[in-house]
Amino acid sequence: MQLDVVDVVYRITLTNKKFYKRTMAAQRVSVLFLLGTVTTVSAFQITSVETKIGTINGKVENVTWFGETFKIHKYFGIPFAEPPVGELRFKKPVPKSSLNKPLDAFNHSHACHQVTIYKLGNVSTDEDCLYLNIYAPERQSENEKLAVMVWIYGGSFMHGFSDIYVADNLATYGNVIIVTFNYRISVWGFLSTGDEYAPGNYGLWDQHMAIKWVHDNIAVFGGDTERITVFGESAGSASVIFQTLYPGNKGLFQRAIAQSGSIGAFWSINKNNPQNAQHLGSLAKCDTRNNEALIACLRDVPAQKLEEFVSEFSYGLLTFPSPFAPYIDGEFINYDQEHAFDSDNTLPKDSQDIFAAIDLMTGVISKEGSVFVLPMFGVMDPEHFLPNRTFFEEELVPIFLNTLYGEPVPRSVRASTTVEYTKWSNPDNEYNIRDEFVSMWGDGTFVAGLFRTLNKHATLSSNLNNTYMYYFDEEPDFTGGFAPMTWFKKLGHGEDIPFLFGFLHSGVTKEEFNVIPSPWEETLSRDFIRLWTNFAKTGNPNLPDDMNINWVAYTKTSQHYLHLSRNMTSANVKQYWNQRRAKFWTSLVPELMKTTCISAASCQRSLTSALIFLFILLKTLMLY
Ligand SMILES: *[C@@H]1O[C@H](CO)[C@@H](O)[C@H](O)[C@H]1NC(C)=O
Ligand SMILES: *[C@@H]1O[C@H](CO)[C@@H](O)[C@H](O)[C@H]1NC(C)=O
Ligand SMILES: *[C@@H]1O[C@H](CO)[C@@H](O)[C@H](O)[C@H]1NC(C)=O
Ligand SMILES: *[C@@H]1O[C@H](CO)[C@@H](O)[C@H](O)[C@H]1NC(C)=O
Ligand SMILES: *[C@@H]1O[C@H](CO)[C@@H](O)[C@H](O)[C@H]1NC(C)=O
Ligand SMILES: *[C@@H]1O[C@H](CO)[C@@H](O)[C@H](O)[C@H]1NC(C)=O
Repeated sequence: MQLDVVDVVYRITLTNKKFYKRTMAAQRVSVLFLLGTVTTVSAFQITSVETKIGTINGKVENVTWFGETFKIHKYFGIPFAEPPVGELRFKKPVPKSSLNKPLDAFNHSHACHQVTIYKLGNVSTDEDCLYLNIYAPERQSENEKLAVMVWIYGGSFMHGFSDIYVADNLATYGNVIIVTFNYRISVWGFLSTGDEYAPGNYGLWDQHMAIKWVHDNIAVFGGDTERITVFGESAGSASVIFQTLYPGNKGLFQRAIAQSGSIGAFWSINKNNPQNAQHLGSLAKCDTRNNEALIACLRDVPAQKLEEFVSEFSYGLLTFPSPFAPYIDGEFINYDQEHAFDSDNTLPKDSQDIFAAIDLMTGVISKEGSVFVLPMFGVMDPEHFLPNRTFFEEELVPIFLNTLYGEPVPRSVRASTTVEYTKWSNPDNEYNIRDEFVSMWGDGTFVAGLFRTLNKHATLSSNLNNTYMYYFDEEPDFTGGFAPMTWFKKLGHGEDIPFLFGFLHSGVTKEEFNVIPSPWEETLSRDFIRLWTNFAKTGNPNLPDDMNINWVAYTKTSQHYLHLSRNMTSANVKQYWNQRRAKFWTSLVPELMKTTCISAASCQRSLTSALIFLFILLKTLMLY
């Protein structure tokens, strides 16, 4: 019997040497049942698992990294939700109930629709995009349970997709299961009319559903449901924080890693979402007088057309925040996200509880601000950018503050910012001014949020020792990443990703993933993977694979952090990074924003917001 089956497989292989043929799928699957879990068909080995939604077939491959060969099981393109199309557009995702036949999970799905800066290569986009991918290293025994890490991509809630994060090295070298998935972005993920017709945040609900799918199904892939970490970068990092505050995720994951991004940043929310929905409606010639009709009409606009309208009114990509970003919908986000991490509590109690219980590792890299060297922020020619003092003070600082606060700021804020971001030993030196420009953006948008997040978490979970901070500062050998200017030599926003993913890339997309690492970069990549996967396994980045670094947990008073660099030792564990400028943004500027106003109208506005704040505070106190 077994021999016959092998013979059939062999014949299929012969007639099917070059290409895997769909027509063979049915025969082959029955073969799989007889042979057990792994067999060889065509050019690759197949593995098969029974999940709650049905049978899923994946590929078995060898991965060689650092002279070691590992076996990995990959399952690409697993649907975790029904296609969010037709009536389901602008709605919460609906879970995928069951597969009507075994799924050959050999290929990535479509990316979600987007107005993109990525070179998509052969990647196609479609609204039917809610799929996930699993990278599971082969286990020593059937009883071994592996820690699981679920990656959320960044891209300003406007673009991004899972395929480019190739996790072969991270999964095998770290011996963890990696899951990547697509969530809806741009108008499809975040359009909101501010009422029940289209509340918004579908992309965040997609993320939650993917996390739930992993929790419910990963055990059959060898995953440990008690050790699930959600991690992400940039908007993916802000997403991680949104998920850690959502009480519906209680018990679904235990740890979180937030890389370069948190809530409260100007790009992590768009309060004008409903106005933008109206504007989109008028471009699409919909009836904009009532939201029910508007949404019904927008549901009928072909995806391609929607994409054109969005690019039209957002000046291509050159808009921040995304016109359709997360929105305070009262359900997924039911708190004032801008002030959620201020020291006075405004967070709902159940959000505080889940947030405190989740182990958190978070950090930034040295020059996050590089990503803002763009025409829309006053830098018309990034490659030859060398601003003089007048231009810095009169143009660049005001554009920056306007973007950060979304409204004109008091003159005192402008003056303080200019004073703080000037190298007073040589204030007119244009190279210094350029450096300070990058620091100003990085501190205002990423560093301030980092410390708010850390302090809130460390305070709420003070008895747990479960907050870790890192700072990544190096001069990489590779160039051409997210900051393609030749004068830029430091690490720019997003350039921790190649290190974390072992310098793998899918070869079809962004150039920054096509980087060949030098030996020290490859070694540091290995260190990244050890620290990150240690944390995923135990909640402590020092264990079980002890690198003799002795990374000390962060508390509000000690402020320990790990300085990630080449050749790390315990001397890399330091304290009080960039505190003066962090305080500038978290203490001084908010104080100035409150106490001074530009005009009578804005004084009125600050009075109103002070009253609202007082009201929320009183309401919160009443809960206790
Ligand atoms: C993986 O490597 C093993 C030997 O270590 C070999 O027998 C097997 O055929 C390889 N599998 C693939 C898919 O290349
Ligand atoms: C799907 O993956 C298989 C195996 O990697 C490949 O041979 C095939 O061309 C892919 N199909 C598509 C439609 O990309
Ligand atoms: C896209 O696919 C075609 C056909 O498979 C191939 O020739 C081409 O090189 C691919 N392009 C990229 C950028 O991968
Ligand atoms: C400063 O830079 C601006 C913008 O590049 C330029 O228009 C202006 O002439 C410069 N001023 C001086 C004094 O060089
Ligand atoms: C927290 O960590 C510090 C330093 O690593 C240690 O001294 C302290 O005992 C820990 N506290 C708890 C509650 O584990
Ligand atoms: C890092 O360590 C390697 C070998 O261990 C050594 O060759 C190199 O000089 C060190 N680099 C730095 C910056 O200390």
